[in-house]
Amino acid sequence: MERTVVSETISHEGKKVKVQGWVHSRRDHGKLIFIDLRDRSGLLQVVFWGGGDAVLFAQADKLRSEFVVTITGTVQKRGENQVNAELPTGTVELAAETLEILNESEVPAFEIEKATEVGEDRRMEYRYLDMRSERMRNNLEKRHKIIKLIRDELDQKGFWEIETPYLTKGTPEGAREFIVPARLSPGKFYVLPQSPQQFKQLLMVGGVEKYFQIARCFRDEDTRGDRQAEFTQLDLEMSFVEREDVMAINEALLIKIVETLYPDKHIQKVPFPRMTYKEAMEQYGTDRPDIRENKEDPNLLAFMWVIDFPFFEKTDKEEHHGAEGEWTFTHNPFSAPIPEHTDKLMAKAGIGEILTTQYDVVLNGSEIGGGSIRNHKPEALRKVLEIIGHKPENIERDFGHMLKAFAYGAPPHGGIAWGLERLVMILQNEPSIRDVMAFPKTGDSRDLLMQAPNDVNPKTLKELGIKVEEQ
Ligand code: AMO
Repeated sequence: MERTVVSETISHEGKKVKVQGWVHSRRDHGKLIFIDLRDRSGLLQVVFWGGGDAVLFAQADKLRSEFVVTITGTVQKRGENQVNAELPTGTVELAAETLEILNESEVPAFEIEKATEVGEDRRMEYRYLDMRSERMRNNLEKRHKIIKLIRDELDQKGFWEIETPYLTKGTPEGAREFIVPARLSPGKFYVLPQSPQQFKQLLMVGGVEKYFQIARCFRDEDTRGDRQAEFTQLDLEMSFVEREDVMAINEALLIKIVETLYPDKHIQKVPFPRMTYKEAMEQYGTDRPDIRENKEDPNLLAFMWVIDFPFFEKTDKEEHHGAEGEWTFTHNPFSAPIPEHTDKLMAKAGIGEILTTQYDVVLNGSEIGGGSIRNHKPEALRKVLEIIGHKPENIERDFGHMLKAFAYGAPPHGGIAWGLERLVMILQNEPSIRDVMAFPKTGDSRDLLMQAPNDVNPKTLKELGIKVEEQ
């Protein structure tokens, strides 16, 4: 017999079905054993009757929470008093006829639907149990649906999804980098990308014109509620565009996601309001204002754009991004200034006043994405690097490949990246991005399930020529 998922049993009243899943809970009423059977689609009540098949009843008596089972039986209407209005299958139940225990389970570390009552560390250690909860299941499903919609929409608009390397060279994006020793080049290292920034620009030089990627990014920073060392971006880049074009395509995509997948939610204002960095700082004291008219409304989405950021700011010694100048970039060294400020950049005059084409998209007070139009002329990129204090030999070493590529007919281009988890988190009304990731890490970036990071065996280290100093 083919398997029926439990949510569909409701349309099989009076028929024989086979269901498979986990024992969610069990209640004994003398001659009756009730099981709530759970699969990915929901819950179904199954009843074993002591007055019937004695062998079957004895078998049912062995069932414990999280045992995995196959049950066949007949879907029957529940009595009027037995209807459970809270369960989508609450008008029916399965009268069990056969039971097969496919696997047993230890007593779970916590009750599946009460996972949030235990510490989060425990949920992460037993993520595979946590994931069985309705909440986590829903988060993972919605995340999948959002990504699927993004792919379909961008495909329709002529974007190509292209993967870019993880084993690469450093890119100055403001965070510390993860490095990977290169066995075949002793003493040298790959760097895991903080974002696909340089590769997506090289794709534009390569004539791809419209690129996107659901891209994994790596940043060795202290993690918080809205930060992880490893996270996912919707990354995109387009050629022959201006700021307005990139903003328009992203705004339309965000609206489409909300309208299609979150019909109960409403967007406060369309088109999304825009504020300059200066206005945001003056009115809200932050460059990611929460402009919601009613912060109590869980279904209100207040998107907005922040534009006209200063390009450069005075260096804070901690954050010099590898250069040694008095100035550093505020967002992205590859950005172009607003067209009116190109002359200033080229003359390196009035540096503090130069504004960048950077645009950030903010949702309910959280920065969910940012991007810019880039400098596609090598001279302009070189000026930025000089202003932030890169020595000529470092420019060649760290950025020579970009300057070289731009010298071969780089088209004007620009793009954006969304923090995918931040968007999903807000849409799902979750307090932390960890809740919308299958396998998140702790605040100090440990994976409690896999027990990473961990020691590696001495032979591996030797092969790599690495000696670990006693801490
Ligand atoms: P940026 O560094 O602003 O831009 O990153 C884009 C978006 O990614 C999200 N984000 C994060 N999410 C989770 N954990 C993190 N540690 C984390 N860091 C950033 C934020 C942010 O808005 N290459 C540029 C994009 C471009 O210019 O096209 C970039 O990466 O939501």
